[in-house]
Amino acid sequence: MNPGLESCAVAMKSTKSLSPKQRVQLLQAARKVMKQAHAPYSHFKVGAAILTAKGAIFSGCNVENASYGMTNCAERTAIFTAVAQSGPKLNIRAVAVVNDQKVPCSPCGACRQVIYEFGPDAIIVFQGAKGWKESHITELLPEGFRL
Ligand code: THU
Repeated sequence: MNPGLESCAVAMKSTKSLSPKQRVQLLQAARKVMKQAHAPYSHFKVGAAILTAKGAIFSGCNVENASYGMTNCAERTAIFTAVAQSGPKLNIRAVAVVNDQKVPCSPCGACRQVIYEFGPDAIIVFQGAKGWKESHITELLPEGFRL
């Protein structure tokens, strides 16, 4: 027997994929909120929308600051909005991310960890180098941190 094999965890692939309708709804919500972005420094507007296990959609945009490090990404704005509006028992099924320059844009490392907190089985829809992609959060964030 291979030592340690019994404790070997395989990154879980989501069994529940997004329906075409849910995907369209999420992308529409992300595009709508993107227009609210405060991005006077990067001129890169981002919108994100999350679908919860209960079927609710919450959205958020990036909010930049003159002290650049204080910037909040669209994904985290959407998630923090969801917690503020519906409480901490948030279960994220999917996240969609769009930007106004139509360039590849996947969630940054910090946002991946925040998505993982509430969506360890979440599907992320984003623009990759070769077009739209749907990735499981654990593909984007292997070994995410949990307490
Ligand atoms: N940004 C997001 O909002 N989400 C991402 O997935 C990538 C980057 C924002 C942060 C900053 O306001 C701007 O894009 C440029 O980095």
